[in-house]
Amino acid sequence: MEQKILMEQTIKDLRERADNAIKNSATLKELDEVRVKFLGKKGELTGLLRGMNQLSAEERPQVGKLVNEARAEIETLIAEKNSELKAAALQAKLASEKIDVTLPGRRVHNGHLHPLTLTLNRVKEIFVSMGYTVEEGPEVETDYYNFEALNLPKDHPARDMQDSFYITEEILLRTQTSPVQARTMERHEPNTPIRMIAPGRVYRRDDYDASHSPMFTQVEGLVIDKGISFADLKGTLEDFSKKIFGEKTKIRLRPSFFPFTEPSAEVDVSCVMCHGEGCKVCQGTGWLEILGAGMVHPDVLKMSGYDPAQVSGFAFGLGIERIAMLSYGLDDMRLLYDNDVRFLKQF
Ligand code: DAH
Repeated sequence: MEQKILMEQTIKDLRERADNAIKNSATLKELDEVRVKFLGKKGELTGLLRGMNQLSAEERPQVGKLVNEARAEIETLIAEKNSELKAAALQAKLASEKIDVTLPGRRVHNGHLHPLTLTLNRVKEIFVSMGYTVEEGPEVETDYYNFEALNLPKDHPARDMQDSFYITEEILLRTQTSPVQARTMERHEPNTPIRMIAPGRVYRRDDYDASHSPMFTQVEGLVIDKGISFADLKGTLEDFSKKIFGEKTKIRLRPSFFPFTEPSAEVDVSCVMCHGEGCKVCQGTGWLEILGAGMVHPDVLKMSGYDPAQVSGFAFGLGIERIAMLSYGLDDMRLLYDNDVRFLKQF
């Protein structure tokens, strides 16, 4: 009887201590320690059962019932506290990872086309609208197409002006886009009409300064048909110049020499800055040189299988850097290659 009263008191006391310990657990780890202390295999509640053998047969189930109730209650309290602590941990995590949606966003900077590409596209557009096709040729070219097929045999003095990077005696980085003339004629049935431009990079041994670069961009033009005359050449270039530099633009042709054209001309446009008055850009002359042109030499036609007795043609070559500099008012060609974002952003 005394033992029973003692045990009842111990259980009551144990429940209170467990209750407090659970309430005071600040972390899941602490709570688990409480669970082991009271409910574990070597815990206090299990220890209590050992004192049962001193109870009478009637008392045992009564005390057993109390122990089971205590176990159930502690388990419930622990489960409740467990979800409480878990919820608090989640809240803390959410608070620490909070995103401030009022912060200004980070802008994605989209790139855009390079001023040289913009200029080249504009030139292409103009010629395509006149019915020209756009052809391509290799940048690593043979001596034959770069020089010989253009009427520049091996010892021709005009080769001196176009020294380049040679890969072998016979293969070089092309010095001009003119080799695409012969390549295009060869692809056609002899004497069939051609109206093409060929844009691309060219290479020459040169300085790198405000107006020179060992690599630059050219656009070649070639028109062949029955009865093509110098007037067609002049009219085409005048039309092109007005479209690219403005309606008021005038052109002027000066006699010149190219081995692959006869006659040949250097073509100037009225200064895009002063419109012919004379300024720093045109060095007071009112004119700016923009391209070379001429009537395709009969020997050039012959070498590529065309018959100069039946067809004639004109050709021209212009530098895209020059056109870009004039249309954007740039005073240094290197701006186009330096890839300085502060400069490029302006286009
Ligand atoms: N290929 C010449 C150069 O790079 C430019 C040129 C001049 C091309 C006259 C032509 C032309 O087609 O007829 O200096």
